[in-house]
Amino acid sequence: MIASKPAICDRNGVNQETPDRRFMLPFAGRRVNPPPIWLMRQAGRYLPEYRKVRAEAGSFLDLCYKPRLAAEVSLQPVRRYGFDAAILFSDILVVPDALGQGVRFVEGEGPRLDPIRSSEDLTRLALAKTHDKFALVSETVERLRRDLPRDTALIGFCGAPWTVAVYVAEGRGSGDQRAARSWAYRDPEGFGKLIELLTDASIEYLSGQARAGADALQIFDSWAGSLPDDEFERWVIGPTRRIVDVIRKRHSGLPIIGFPRGAGAVLHRYIEATGVDGVSCDTACPLAVMQRIARGETVVQGNLDPMLLVRGGEALDRRVDDICEVMHGLPFVFNLGHGIVPETPPENVTRLVKCLRRGA
Ligand code: CP3
Repeated sequence: MIASKPAICDRNGVNQETPDRRFMLPFAGRRVNPPPIWLMRQAGRYLPEYRKVRAEAGSFLDLCYKPRLAAEVSLQPVRRYGFDAAILFSDILVVPDALGQGVRFVEGEGPRLDPIRSSEDLTRLALAKTHDKFALVSETVERLRRDLPRDTALIGFCGAPWTVAVYVAEGRGSGDQRAARSWAYRDPEGFGKLIELLTDASIEYLSGQARAGADALQIFDSWAGSLPDDEFERWVIGPTRRIVDVIRKRHSGLPIIGFPRGAGAVLHRYIEATGVDGVSCDTACPLAVMQRIARGETVVQGNLDPMLLVRGGEALDRRVDDICEVMHGLPFVFNLGHGIVPETPPENVTRLVKCLRRGA
Protein backbone atom coordinates (compact mmCIF):
# COMPACT_ATOMS: atom_id res chain seq x y z
CA MET A 1 0.00 0.00 0.00
CA ILE A 2 1.30 3.49 -0.84
CA ALA A 3 1.41 5.99 2.04
CA SER A 4 -0.18 9.32 1.18
CA LYS A 5 2.35 12.14 1.02
CA PRO A 6 1.38 15.66 2.04
CA ALA A 7 1.38 17.88 -1.05
CA ILE A 8 3.95 20.69 -1.20
CA CYS A 9 1.94 23.71 -2.24
CA ASP A 10 2.84 27.33 -2.91
CA ARG A 11 0.87 30.29 -1.54
CA ASN A 12 -1.80 29.83 -4.20
CA GLY A 13 -2.32 26.18 -3.34
CA VAL A 14 -0.56 24.95 -6.50
CA ASN A 15 1.21 21.64 -5.92
CA GLN A 16 4.85 22.45 -6.61
CA GLU A 17 5.66 18.88 -7.56
CA THR A 18 3.13 19.02 -10.39
CA PRO A 19 2.67 22.71 -11.24
CA ASP A 20 2.08 21.86 -14.88
CA ARG A 21 -1.33 20.15 -14.59
CA ARG A 22 -3.65 22.77 -16.08
CA PHE A 23 -6.73 20.98 -14.82
CA MET A 24 -5.64 21.67 -11.23
CA LEU A 25 -5.14 25.43 -11.59
CA PRO A 26 -8.76 26.62 -11.20
CA PHE A 27 -8.87 24.71 -7.90
CA ALA A 28 -5.86 26.71 -6.73
CA GLY A 29 -7.58 29.99 -7.55
CA ARG A 30 -5.67 30.47 -10.83
CA ARG A 31 -7.44 31.73 -13.95
CA VAL A 32 -6.91 29.61 -17.06
CA ASN A 33 -7.75 30.61 -20.62
CA PRO A 34 -8.81 28.58 -22.54
CA PRO A 35 -10.32 26.53 -19.71
CA PRO A 36 -9.11 22.99 -19.03
CA ILE A 37 -11.29 20.33 -20.65
CA TRP A 38 -12.30 16.71 -20.06
CA LEU A 39 -15.63 15.02 -20.80
CA MET A 40 -17.88 12.88 -18.64
CA ARG A 41 -17.71 9.29 -19.86
CA GLN A 42 -14.90 10.23 -22.25
CA ALA A 43 -13.77 6.58 -22.41
CA GLY A 44 -16.47 4.45 -23.96
CA ARG A 45 -18.38 2.94 -26.81
CA TYR A 46 -18.24 5.96 -29.15
CA LEU A 47 -14.52 5.15 -29.61
CA PRO A 48 -13.64 2.24 -31.93
CA GLU A 49 -10.44 1.61 -29.92
CA TYR A 50 -12.58 1.18 -26.76
CA ARG A 51 -14.88 -1.33 -28.46
CA LYS A 52 -11.85 -3.37 -29.48
CA VAL A 53 -10.44 -3.62 -25.93
CA ARG A 54 -13.93 -4.19 -24.50
CA ALA A 55 -14.41 -7.20 -26.82
CA GLU A 56 -11.06 -8.57 -25.67
CA ALA A 57 -11.91 -8.15 -21.96
CA GLY A 58 -15.16 -10.14 -21.89
CA SER A 59 -17.83 -8.49 -19.73
CA PHE A 60 -17.87 -4.81 -18.78
CA LEU A 61 -17.04 -5.59 -15.14
CA ASP A 62 -14.18 -7.88 -16.24
CA LEU A 63 -12.77 -4.81 -17.95
CA CYS A 64 -13.11 -2.76 -14.74
CA TYR A 65 -11.18 -5.45 -12.79
CA LYS A 66 -8.33 -5.87 -15.30
CA PRO A 67 -5.96 -3.00 -14.43
CA ARG A 68 -3.88 -3.24 -17.61
CA LEU A 69 -6.93 -3.03 -19.90
CA ALA A 70 -8.83 -0.53 -17.72
CA ALA A 71 -5.79 1.79 -17.73
CA GLU A 72 -5.54 1.41 -21.50
CA VAL A 73 -9.15 2.50 -22.18
CA SER A 74 -8.75 5.40 -19.78
CA LEU A 75 -5.68 6.57 -21.75
CA GLN A 76 -7.37 6.27 -25.16
CA PRO A 77 -9.33 9.57 -25.14
CA VAL A 78 -6.31 11.42 -23.70
CA ARG A 79 -4.14 10.13 -26.55
CA ARG A 80 -6.74 10.96 -29.18
CA TYR A 81 -7.82 14.40 -27.96
CA GLY A 82 -5.15 15.67 -25.53
CA PHE A 83 -7.67 16.26 -22.72
CA ASP A 84 -6.33 17.99 -19.60
CA ALA A 85 -7.57 15.15 -17.38
CA ALA A 86 -8.12 11.42 -17.59
CA ILE A 87 -10.84 9.76 -15.56
CA LEU A 88 -10.19 6.38 -14.00
CA PHE A 89 -11.95 3.61 -15.92
CA SER A 90 -14.27 1.89 -13.45
CA ASP A 91 -17.95 2.25 -12.55
CA ILE A 92 -20.08 3.55 -9.70
CA LEU A 93 -21.59 0.04 -9.44
CA VAL A 94 -18.22 -1.51 -8.58
CA VAL A 95 -19.11 -0.53 -4.98
CA PRO A 96 -22.26 -2.72 -4.63
CA ASP A 97 -20.54 -5.41 -6.67
CA ALA A 98 -17.55 -5.46 -4.31
CA LEU A 99 -19.88 -5.38 -1.29
CA GLY A 100 -21.34 -8.66 -2.52
CA GLN A 101 -24.55 -7.77 -4.35
CA GLY A 102 -23.50 -9.20 -7.69
CA VAL A 103 -23.83 -6.78 -10.60
CA ARG A 104 -24.30 -7.75 -14.26
CA PHE A 105 -24.36 -5.54 -17.31
CA VAL A 106 -26.85 -6.82 -19.87
CA GLU A 107 -25.88 -5.92 -23.44
CA GLY A 108 -28.10 -3.11 -24.70
CA GLU A 109 -30.07 -2.90 -21.43
CA GLY A 110 -27.70 -1.59 -18.75
CA PRO A 111 -26.96 -2.82 -15.23
CA ARG A 112 -28.90 -5.51 -13.37
CA LEU A 113 -28.59 -6.31 -9.65
CA ASP A 114 -30.58 -8.65 -7.36
CA PRO A 115 -32.55 -5.96 -5.50
CA ILE A 116 -31.99 -5.28 -1.80
CA ARG A 117 -35.07 -3.72 -0.19
CA SER A 118 -34.98 -4.44 3.54
CA SER A 119 -32.65 -4.71 6.52
CA GLU A 120 -32.77 -8.52 6.18
CA ASP A 121 -31.60 -8.30 2.55
CA LEU A 122 -28.78 -6.01 3.69
CA THR A 123 -26.99 -8.88 5.43
CA ARG A 124 -25.88 -9.97 1.93
CA LEU A 125 -23.52 -6.96 1.84
CA ALA A 126 -20.34 -6.45 3.89
CA LEU A 127 -17.52 -3.93 3.85
CA ALA A 128 -15.02 -6.71 4.57
CA LYS A 129 -15.71 -8.23 1.13
CA THR A 130 -14.56 -5.16 -0.81
CA HIS A 131 -10.81 -5.45 -0.34
CA ASP A 132 -9.72 -7.45 -3.39
CA LYS A 133 -11.92 -5.68 -5.95
CA PHE A 134 -11.08 -2.21 -4.63
CA ALA A 135 -7.38 -3.15 -4.73
CA LEU A 136 -7.70 -3.92 -8.46
CA VAL A 137 -9.21 -0.47 -9.06
CA SER A 138 -6.36 1.16 -7.09
CA GLU A 139 -3.91 -0.78 -9.23
CA THR A 140 -5.50 0.78 -12.34
CA VAL A 141 -4.94 4.22 -10.79
CA GLU A 142 -1.27 3.41 -10.08
CA ARG A 143 -0.72 2.28 -13.66
CA LEU A 144 -2.48 5.33 -15.03
CA ARG A 145 -0.45 7.75 -12.96
CA ARG A 146 2.69 6.05 -14.27
CA ASP A 147 1.59 6.02 -17.93
CA LEU A 148 -0.20 9.36 -18.28
CA PRO A 149 1.65 12.40 -19.60
CA ARG A 150 2.98 14.37 -16.65
CA ASP A 151 0.79 17.37 -17.38
CA THR A 152 -2.45 15.35 -17.50
CA ALA A 153 -4.41 15.17 -14.25
CA LEU A 154 -6.09 11.96 -13.10
CA ILE A 155 -9.63 12.02 -11.70
CA GLY A 156 -10.87 9.25 -9.44
CA PHE A 157 -14.56 8.85 -8.63
CA CYS A 158 -17.42 7.08 -6.90
CA GLY A 159 -21.20 7.24 -7.08
CA ALA A 160 -22.91 9.17 -4.30
CA PRO A 161 -24.55 6.84 -1.73
CA TRP A 162 -28.06 7.98 -2.74
CA THR A 163 -27.55 7.23 -6.46
CA VAL A 164 -25.89 3.88 -5.75
CA ALA A 165 -28.74 3.05 -3.33
CA VAL A 166 -31.22 3.66 -6.17
CA TYR A 167 -29.52 0.87 -8.17
CA VAL A 168 -29.14 -1.36 -5.09
CA ALA A 169 -32.88 -1.14 -4.25
CA GLU A 170 -34.32 -1.06 -7.76
CA GLY A 171 -31.93 -3.62 -9.23
CA ARG A 172 -31.49 -1.34 -12.23
CA GLY A 173 -31.61 2.35 -13.19
CA SER A 174 -34.86 4.09 -12.37
CA GLY A 175 -36.27 7.42 -13.52
CA ASP A 176 -38.50 7.83 -10.46
CA GLN A 177 -36.32 5.97 -7.95
CA ARG A 178 -39.44 4.25 -6.65
CA ALA A 179 -37.85 1.35 -4.74
CA ALA A 180 -35.32 3.52 -2.88
CA ARG A 181 -37.75 6.31 -2.09
CA SER A 182 -40.46 4.00 -0.81
CA TRP A 183 -37.97 2.06 1.34
CA ALA A 184 -36.71 5.39 2.76
CA TYR A 185 -40.28 6.36 3.80
CA ARG A 186 -41.35 2.89 4.98
CA ASP A 187 -38.24 2.14 7.03
CA PRO A 188 -35.90 5.14 7.33
CA GLU A 189 -33.69 3.33 9.83
CA GLY A 190 -33.13 0.31 7.61
CA PHE A 191 -32.58 2.49 4.54
CA GLY A 192 -30.22 4.61 6.65
CA LYS A 193 -28.14 1.48 7.32
CA LEU A 194 -27.77 0.92 3.57
CA ILE A 195 -26.75 4.56 3.05
CA GLU A 196 -24.25 4.31 5.89
CA LEU A 197 -22.70 1.16 4.45
CA LEU A 198 -22.46 2.74 0.99
CA THR A 199 -20.92 5.87 2.52
CA ASP A 200 -18.28 3.82 4.37
CA ALA A 201 -17.53 1.78 1.23
CA SER A 202 -17.33 4.93 -0.95
CA ILE A 203 -14.82 6.45 1.48
CA GLU A 204 -12.61 3.35 1.23
CA TYR A 205 -13.01 3.22 -2.56
CA LEU A 206 -11.98 6.89 -2.91
CA SER A 207 -9.21 6.66 -0.32
CA GLY A 208 -7.65 3.78 -2.24
CA GLN A 209 -7.74 5.87 -5.42
CA ALA A 210 -6.25 8.89 -3.64
CA ARG A 211 -3.42 6.81 -2.15
CA ALA A 212 -2.70 5.32 -5.56
CA GLY A 213 -2.22 8.75 -7.15
CA ALA A 214 -5.53 10.38 -8.18
CA ASP A 215 -5.23 14.20 -8.39
CA ALA A 216 -8.92 14.96 -7.82
CA LEU A 217 -12.10 13.03 -7.01
CA GLN A 218 -15.62 13.32 -8.38
CA ILE A 219 -18.82 12.13 -6.69
CA PHE A 220 -21.54 11.28 -9.24
CA ASP A 221 -25.08 11.78 -7.91
CA SER A 222 -26.96 11.12 -11.13
CA TRP A 223 -30.33 10.61 -9.37
CA ALA A 224 -30.10 13.54 -6.96
CA GLY A 225 -32.85 15.42 -8.74
CA SER A 226 -36.23 14.36 -7.42
CA LEU A 227 -36.17 14.31 -3.62
CA PRO A 228 -38.19 16.73 -1.46
CA ASP A 229 -35.86 19.09 0.38
CA ASP A 230 -35.91 17.27 3.74
CA GLU A 231 -35.17 13.93 2.06
CA PHE A 232 -32.46 15.63 -0.03
CA GLU A 233 -30.81 16.85 3.20
CA ARG A 234 -30.89 13.40 4.72
CA TRP A 235 -29.92 11.14 1.83
CA VAL A 236 -27.89 13.39 -0.47
CA ILE A 237 -26.29 16.16 1.61
CA GLY A 238 -25.54 14.27 4.84
CA PRO A 239 -23.69 11.31 3.31
CA THR A 240 -21.87 13.49 0.74
CA ARG A 241 -20.75 15.84 3.51
CA ARG A 242 -19.36 12.85 5.45
CA ILE A 243 -17.41 11.60 2.42
CA VAL A 244 -15.98 15.09 1.81
CA ASP A 245 -15.03 15.53 5.50
CA VAL A 246 -13.27 12.18 5.85
CA ILE A 247 -11.46 12.34 2.50
CA ARG A 248 -10.31 15.88 3.20
CA LYS A 249 -8.92 14.80 6.57
CA ARG A 250 -7.10 11.83 5.05
CA HIS A 251 -5.91 13.46 1.81
CA SER A 252 -5.63 17.20 2.27
CA GLY A 253 -5.38 19.34 -0.83
CA LEU A 254 -7.17 16.88 -3.12
CA PRO A 255 -10.03 18.72 -4.87
CA ILE A 256 -13.45 17.05 -4.59
CA ILE A 257 -16.11 17.74 -7.24
CA GLY A 258 -19.81 16.96 -6.77
CA PHE A 259 -22.27 16.21 -9.57
CA PRO A 260 -25.78 16.51 -8.11
CA ARG A 261 -27.60 16.01 -11.40
CA GLY A 262 -31.00 17.70 -11.49
CA ALA A 263 -30.53 19.46 -8.13
CA GLY A 264 -31.94 22.68 -9.65
CA ALA A 265 -33.17 24.97 -6.88
CA VAL A 266 -31.16 23.17 -4.18
CA LEU A 267 -27.83 23.33 -6.05
CA HIS A 268 -26.64 26.24 -3.90
CA ARG A 269 -27.61 24.44 -0.73
CA TYR A 270 -25.65 21.38 -1.95
CA ILE A 271 -22.49 23.43 -2.56
CA GLU A 272 -22.68 25.25 0.75
CA ALA A 273 -23.57 22.24 2.91
CA THR A 274 -21.36 19.52 1.41
CA GLY A 275 -18.20 21.63 1.23
CA VAL A 276 -17.19 20.37 -2.23
CA ASP A 277 -14.42 22.32 -4.01
CA GLY A 278 -16.13 22.11 -7.36
CA VAL A 279 -19.52 21.35 -8.81
CA SER A 280 -20.37 19.75 -12.13
CA CYS A 281 -23.47 21.42 -13.54
CA ASP A 282 -26.00 19.45 -15.57
CA THR A 283 -27.29 20.34 -19.03
CA ALA A 284 -30.33 22.19 -17.68
CA CYS A 285 -28.33 24.54 -15.43
CA PRO A 286 -28.55 28.11 -16.82
CA LEU A 287 -25.19 29.69 -17.68
CA ALA A 288 -26.09 32.66 -15.47
CA VAL A 289 -26.36 30.28 -12.49
CA MET A 290 -22.97 28.71 -13.32
CA GLN A 291 -21.46 32.18 -13.53
CA ARG A 292 -22.87 33.16 -10.14
CA ILE A 293 -21.53 30.00 -8.51
CA ALA A 294 -18.05 30.50 -10.01
CA ARG A 295 -18.01 34.13 -8.85
CA GLY A 296 -18.39 32.71 -5.34
CA GLU A 297 -15.08 30.85 -5.87
CA THR A 298 -16.51 27.34 -6.27
CA VAL A 299 -15.01 25.73 -9.37
CA VAL A 300 -17.71 25.05 -11.96
CA GLN A 301 -17.63 22.25 -14.52
CA GLY A 302 -20.02 21.87 -17.40
CA ASN A 303 -22.34 21.88 -19.15
CA LEU A 304 -22.50 21.33 -22.92
CA ASP A 305 -25.47 19.19 -23.97
CA PRO A 306 -24.16 15.75 -25.03
CA MET A 307 -26.82 15.75 -27.79
CA LEU A 308 -25.33 18.92 -29.28
CA LEU A 309 -22.01 17.08 -29.39
CA VAL A 310 -23.80 14.41 -31.47
CA ARG A 311 -25.10 17.14 -33.79
CA GLY A 312 -21.72 18.89 -34.21
CA GLY A 313 -21.16 21.62 -36.80
CA GLU A 314 -21.46 25.35 -36.29
CA ALA A 315 -24.24 25.03 -33.73
CA LEU A 316 -21.70 23.22 -31.53
CA ASP A 317 -19.04 25.92 -32.05
CA ARG A 318 -21.53 28.66 -31.18
CA ARG A 319 -22.54 27.05 -27.90
CA VAL A 320 -18.91 26.36 -26.93
CA ASP A 321 -18.16 30.05 -27.51
CA ASP A 322 -21.20 31.13 -25.50
CA ILE A 323 -20.26 28.96 -22.52
CA CYS A 324 -16.64 30.16 -22.60
CA GLU A 325 -17.67 33.78 -22.87
CA VAL A 326 -19.95 33.62 -19.83
CA MET A 327 -17.32 31.73 -17.78
CA HIS A 328 -14.32 33.78 -18.92
CA GLY A 329 -11.99 34.78 -16.08
CA LEU A 330 -13.78 32.51 -13.60
CA PRO A 331 -12.73 29.18 -12.02
CA PHE A 332 -14.11 26.93 -14.76
CA VAL A 333 -13.47 23.52 -16.33
CA PHE A 334 -15.13 22.79 -19.66
CA ASN A 335 -17.21 19.59 -19.67
CA LEU A 336 -20.55 18.13 -20.74
CA GLY A 337 -23.74 18.41 -18.69
CA HIS A 338 -23.97 14.59 -18.62
CA GLY A 339 -22.10 11.62 -20.11
CA ILE A 340 -21.10 11.38 -23.76
CA VAL A 341 -23.51 9.08 -25.65
CA PRO A 342 -22.41 6.10 -27.79
CA GLU A 343 -23.66 7.61 -31.09
CA THR A 344 -21.31 10.62 -30.76
CA PRO A 345 -19.11 10.92 -33.88
CA PRO A 346 -15.50 10.95 -32.57
CA GLU A 347 -14.64 13.73 -35.04
CA ASN A 348 -17.14 16.04 -33.30
CA VAL A 349 -15.05 15.74 -30.14
CA THR A 350 -11.96 16.73 -32.17
CA ARG A 351 -13.91 19.73 -33.41
CA LEU A 352 -14.97 20.67 -29.88
CA VAL A 353 -11.40 20.58 -28.54
CA LYS A 354 -10.11 22.57 -31.53
CA CYS A 355 -12.85 25.16 -31.13
CA LEU A 356 -12.13 25.56 -27.41
CA ARG A 357 -8.38 25.88 -27.92
CA ARG A 358 -8.27 27.99 -31.07
CA GLY A 359 -6.16 31.07 -30.53
CA ALA A 360 -4.41 29.40 -27.60
O1 CP3 B 1 -14.75 7.74 -19.20
C1 CP3 B 1 -15.39 7.42 -18.20
O2 CP3 B 1 -16.13 8.20 -17.61
C2 CP3 B 1 -15.19 6.02 -17.71
C3 CP3 B 1 -15.58 5.68 -16.34
C4 CP3 B 1 -17.08 5.65 -16.01
C5 CP3 B 1 -18.03 4.71 -16.47
N1 CP3 B 1 -19.20 4.93 -15.83
C6 CP3 B 1 -17.77 3.64 -17.45
C7 CP3 B 1 -18.92 2.95 -18.10
C8 CP3 B 1 -17.74 6.52 -15.15
C9 CP3 B 1 -17.21 7.75 -14.44
C10 CP3 B 1 -19.08 6.03 -15.02
C11 CP3 B 1 -20.07 6.67 -14.12
C12 CP3 B 1 -21.41 6.08 -14.03
N2 CP3 B 1 -21.79 4.76 -14.17
C13 CP3 B 1 -22.57 6.82 -13.63
C14 CP3 B 1 -22.58 8.30 -13.25
C15 CP3 B 1 -22.58 9.21 -14.43
C16 CP3 B 1 -23.85 9.18 -15.24
O3 CP3 B 1 -23.74 8.76 -16.42
O4 CP3 B 1 -24.92 9.56 -14.75
C17 CP3 B 1 -23.65 5.93 -13.63
C18 CP3 B 1 -25.09 6.28 -13.30
C19 CP3 B 1 -23.14 4.63 -13.96
C20 CP3 B 1 -23.90 3.35 -14.00
C21 CP3 B 1 -23.85 2.73 -15.34
N3 CP3 B 1 -22.72 2.17 -15.91
C22 CP3 B 1 -24.91 2.58 -16.25
C23 CP3 B 1 -26.33 3.07 -16.02
C24 CP3 B 1 -24.41 1.91 -17.37
C25 CP3 B 1 -25.21 1.41 -18.56
C26 CP3 B 1 -25.59 2.52 -19.46
C27 CP3 B 1 -24.45 2.89 -20.33
O5 CP3 B 1 -24.17 4.09 -20.44
O6 CP3 B 1 -23.89 1.99 -20.93
C28 CP3 B 1 -23.03 1.71 -17.17
C29 CP3 B 1 -22.08 1.08 -18.10
C30 CP3 B 1 -20.81 1.78 -18.41
N4 CP3 B 1 -20.04 2.46 -17.50
C31 CP3 B 1 -20.17 1.83 -19.68
C32 CP3 B 1 -18.98 2.55 -19.49
C33 CP3 B 1 -17.92 2.83 -20.52
C34 CP3 B 1 -20.64 1.16 -20.97
C35 CP3 B 1 -20.47 -0.30 -20.78
C36 CP3 B 1 -20.11 -1.10 -22.02
O7 CP3 B 1 -19.01 -0.93 -22.57
O8 CP3 B 1 -20.90 -1.96 -22.36
